[in-house]
Amino acid sequence: MTNRVALVTGGNGGIGTEVCKYLSALGYTVVSTCVNADKEDILGWQEELQAEGHQVNWVECDVSDFNACGAMAEKVEGEYGPVDVLVNLAGITRDAFIHKMEKDAWDAVINVNLTSAFNVTRNLIDNMRSRGFGRIINISSVNGQTGQFGQTNYSAAKAGLHGFTMALAKEGARKGITANTVSPGYINTSMTAAIPDEVKEQILAQVPAGRMGRPDEIARVVAFLAADESEYINGANIPVNGALFTSF
Ligand code: CAA
Repeated sequence: MTNRVALVTGGNGGIGTEVCKYLSALGYTVVSTCVNADKEDILGWQEELQAEGHQVNWVECDVSDFNACGAMAEKVEGEYGPVDVLVNLAGITRDAFIHKMEKDAWDAVINVNLTSAFNVTRNLIDNMRSRGFGRIINISSVNGQTGQFGQTNYSAAKAGLHGFTMALAKEGARKGITANTVSPGYINTSMTAAIPDEVKEQILAQVPAGRMGRPDEIARVVAFLAADESEYINGANIPVNGALFTSF
C-alpha cells in the first residue's frame, strides 16, 4: 500500500475509471480531472466508485488550456498534497479522412491529446524535481505506432506523446522522475464503441488475441509503472494490444 497522490487526466472515461479504481485500491489518493462536472455527471460517477469502495476525488479542468492547468495543479496540491504520479490520459477522437478533415478537428485532437500532456506536466514538474520523485505515465495508442485510416490527427498526437515521454525520461532520470508510455490497442470503451460496425469487424479480424482489450488490462500496467520500485523503467513504451502490433 502507498499513500502517494495520483492525478489522472480524464480519469472518468472508460480506461480512466479503471485506472482510478486500480490506484485507489493500492492506497493512492486519486484525483481525476473532468472538463464539465455537470455534463459528465461527475458526482454520479464518484458515487458509483464509492459504492464499490473507491474514494476518488475530482477537479474541473480543460487540460488543453495551459493557464487552467496551472490553477488546477495549485488547487490539487493545496488540497491533497504534492502530486507524485501523473497519468496523462485525457483523449478524444475526431476521425475523418484528411481530405475531409476540418482544421478544428486537427486542433482539438492535438490540443487535448498532446499539448495537454505538456500543459499538466509543466505545471507539476518543478515540485517533482524539488522533491526528487515523480512518475509520469502517458497514455498513447497502437494507432500512434501504426497510423490509422481517418486518424492523421490522432495518430500524430499519440506518436508525439511518446516523443514527449522519451525526452522527459532523460531529463528526469537523475531527479527520481520517470516518464513512460502505455500504448493500448482496441479497448472496450465508448471511444471504440463509436467506430462503425463494419470497420470494427475489419479491425478485430486483425487482432491475434481475437478480442478487444479490457480497461483493467491497461490500468494494471499504469499501476506497475507508478510504483516506487519501477524507477529504472524509464522512457519505455509498453504496448497492450493483444499482439495487434508487435515490434522490438
Ligand atoms: N481499414 C480498412 N479500410 C477502411 C478503414 C479501416 N480501418 N477505415 C475506413 N476504411 C475504408 C472503408 O471500408 C471504405 O472503403 P470503400 O470505399 O471501399 O467502401 C473507405 O475507407 C471509406 O470509408 P467510409 O465510407 O467509412 O468513409 P467516411 O469518410 O464516411 O469515414 C472514417 C472514414 C472516418 C475513417 C470511418 O471509416 C471511421 O470512423 N473509421 C474508423 C477509424 C478508426 O479506426 N478509429 C479508431 C477509433 S478508436 C481509437 O482511436 C482508440 C485507440 O486508440 C485504438
